[in-house]
Amino acid sequence: MSHNTIAINQRMDKFDSHQRVWLFGYGSLIFKADFPFIERRPASIAGWTRRFWQGSHDHRGTDSAPGRVLTLVRDAAAVCAGMAYLITPEVFAHLDHREKNGYLRLATGIDFDAGGSEVGLVYIAAEDNAAFLGEAAERDIARQIAAASGPSGRNRDYLIELADALRALGKIDPHVFAIERYLAQLDQG
Ligand code: BEZ
Repeated sequence: MSHNTIAINQRMDKFDSHQRVWLFGYGSLIFKADFPFIERRPASIAGWTRRFWQGSHDHRGTDSAPGRVLTLVRDAAAVCAGMAYLITPEVFAHLDHREKNGYLRLATGIDFDAGGSEVGLVYIAAEDNAAFLGEAAERDIARQIAAASGPSGRNRDYLIELADALRALGKIDPHVFAIERYLAQLDQG
């Protein structure tokens, strides 16, 4: 699959007749909602786990030193906590462009922390996309993140802002927090 997923996402018309759509955010969407939304709610999706397995040469890294950003991988026993946004379909044009480096929209059930659930969308970078880096030791992921920076800022800031946002939500993510600890160790020399 090519890097650029804009055209594929535009063909995803499952919610085209809807005036409002729930979008589940598990990464930068938790701490950076640079789009209009009607409402947001802490929420989770079942069967997926958050991983720093997607390469980033366009936001948090470069072609020569790609960073690592999040995607979701399937894990039947897992529940991924994040933030759900109620948006209008026009917002997807903006997000399709921002997340064009391998992310595809997927329909998913979204469970709200306060109760209730809806079907909505989530952006996932699957392992067949060209920027997918895959599994690595969390210490090595921290090293790569420490060295990467791109047009959207330092890769380490993405990690730290995410970890802070999860703590603010009262959520624990062992993968994210382990990488954050390794990064702190690297900083201490
Ligand atoms: C998110 O925060 O849900 C997100 C992560 C990567 C790409 C698009 C969205």
